[in-house]
Amino acid sequence: KVPLIIDCDPGHDDAVMLLLAFGSNLFDIKAITTSAGNQTQEKTLKNARKILELIGTDVPVYKGCDKPLFRELIIADYVHGEMGMDGPILPEPNVYHESLSAIEAMARILTESPEKITIVPTGPLTNIATFLLAYPHLKSKIERISLMGGGAFRGNMTPTAEFNIYVDPEAAAVVFKSGVPITMCGLDVTHKALVFQEDIERFRAIGNRSGKVVAELMDFFSIYYRRERPELNGGAALHDPCSIAWLIDPSMFTSKPCFVDVEVNGTLTTGTTVVDFFDVLKKTPNVDFVYDIDRERYIQLIYDAVRVLP
Ligand code: BDR
Ligand code: CA
Repeated sequence: KVPLIIDCDPGHDDAVMLLLAFGSNLFDIKAITTSAGNQTQEKTLKNARKILELIGTDVPVYKGCDKPLFRELIIADYVHGEMGMDGPILPEPNVYHESLSAIEAMARILTESPEKITIVPTGPLTNIATFLLAYPHLKSKIERISLMGGGAFRGNMTPTAEFNIYVDPEAAAVVFKSGVPITMCGLDVTHKALVFQEDIERFRAIGNRSGKVVAELMDFFSIYYRRERPELNGGAALHDPCSIAWLIDPSMFTSKPCFVDVEVNGTLTTGTTVVDFFDVLKKTPNVDFVYDIDRERYIQLIYDAVRVLP
């Protein structure tokens, strides 16, 4: 099994990403850490714990940073709602009692692990950057970072910047410059990773708790996409599970090694991932840039994972 730490900000698509990760049974998930992004840290932490309780796992969840490295937090309540994961009614999790922070937990897990660990961030990169800055000697214990963020040819916060990178560009810059191998699923691929109404009905028809929750999450998530992204023809961009799906089966994706850096001082483009797709700079690629997907296989992969969950 692939040892994993997942850093997320649930988030509707983060929640589906977690269900895919647990349901696929291919990972040894050491911990979930939460980032502030789609909602405040308090809410994303609670949402992650609700999903874990839904599937009945005792994998620990650790609280991450409350705000970006240098900037004020921007949230995406206009997509994910007041609680950050609106739609399904899930029981309140037990009282939170972890004493370690997300950063300390990552350090402990990497230090103690005999094998390298893969890290999957699907929110702003504040926790990962803080960890890399605080424990640079542990970089060598990271197998790869498979993240959702950025994009080469489009943005969703500004014409060129994607939400996760835009929220904390300085953190993203630290991660992209870290030298750790990175797989980046940005908007180029995630806007092709669409879930349509007929897919949602298939999840509902599975008949288990998790299938119902996926359907209710996607019902809510789709409202925004149908209203704001008519270009997607009624589909909703199921971003975050791409980062896990790529680890499970990269053959359903198309990617290219590219040099990528992050604009932190732009006048128009702050928070943009600058992807050298045509290798004009002749720099050593630091990222496997993913830009296409077999949508049907992707949805089927998630379906198969959700089907075996409670
Ligand atoms: C990203 O932003 C968040 O709203 C989603 O969860 C995803 O991680 C897409 O831009
Ligand atoms: Ca997310």
